[in-house]
Amino acid sequence: MTASSSYDSTSLFNLQGEINRLGNNVERMWPKEKRNLLGFGLGAGMLVLELGSGPGFFTERLATLVPNGSITCIEPEPAFVEYARGHLKDRVGVPHRIIQGTVEDVELPEGRARSTSRLPGPCTGSLRIHSR
Ligand SMILES: C[S@@+](CC[C@H](N)C(=O)[O-])C[C@H]1O[C@@H](n2cnc3c(N)ncnc32)[C@H](O)[C@@H]1O
Repeated sequence: MTASSSYDSTSLFNLQGEINRLGNNVERMWPKEKRNLLGFGLGAGMLVLELGSGPGFFTERLATLVPNGSITCIEPEPAFVEYARGHLKDRVGVPHRIIQGTVEDVELPEGRARSTSRLPGPCTGSLRIHSR
């Protein structure tokens, strides 16, 4: 676990159980999340920055809202990054990449992006992003 990450997949008792829990959570919350994202103006052609993308279930749905756009994910946990890469490979129709690291220490791509975050709490990285 990095200093600013809330997860440590190496010590999670049941990694698959946690992945399943996050998947169920996203499925349950998606109608509300989708409504909010559309309300915030998310749409076709946008470049999206997803902070704390986990195993990728949210990313998969997010991609449906930005046809012709692209998604950059930041996720510190190696096990989630690996799972997400496999999960998203044939499911997401827009260019996407997953950068392993925390939002605090990853060098962010240049340009403007809509930021979506389901991080467990406030972090210095989100302050840095908002200040750009
Ligand atoms: C509640 S989970 C949500 C995962 C995914 N977005 C979803 O909706 O299923 C929070 C995620 O944020 C990641 N995370 C925690 N601290 C982080 C940080 N400082 N920078 C980037 N990601 C972080 C965790 O590893 C975890 O995957």
